[in-house]
Amino acid sequence: MKIAISSDHGGNNLRKEMVNLLNEMGIEYKDFGPHTDDSVDYPDYATPVAEAVVNGEADRGILICGTGIGMSIAANKVKGIRCALVHDVFSAKATRGHNDSNILAMGERVVGAGLAREIAKTWLTEEFEGGRHEKRVQKITDLEK
Ligand code: RB5
Repeated sequence: MKIAISSDHGGNNLRKEMVNLLNEMGIEYKDFGPHTDDSVDYPDYATPVAEAVVNGEADRGILICGTGIGMSIAANKVKGIRCALVHDVFSAKATRGHNDSNILAMGERVVGAGLAREIAKTWLTEEFEGGRHEKRVQKITDLEK
């Protein structure tokens, strides 16, 4: 599995924590930055990650900003993206199992590093359950037509 990851300035520290986690888990990734602490606009960093997922350069993505909200709104504008804004472990498991989410968004100003690591570990390892959830996810895809 390969992960595309980015943040804005409000998510820089948690993005680095997520990069550490990916290294610990032996998961390949591409870090789209930002590589300075300058103030940046979150859509500019959500887009390359969303496009990497849609074009197959990455299997899934992780996006971090201050709240996770801006990143998730921006990513979900890209056709084929199902970005879930998650701040608890239960939802991390459910959104993989039920929604087949392909991007995880979190807010550095919302969740601590320890919980964020548990959320990401769960989200990275849970599989889509398929079955009755297939047609529901397909109905989301149909909305893009
Ligand atoms: C940046 O100040 C902040 O607005 C951004 O990180 C994010 O929370 C937006 O949704």
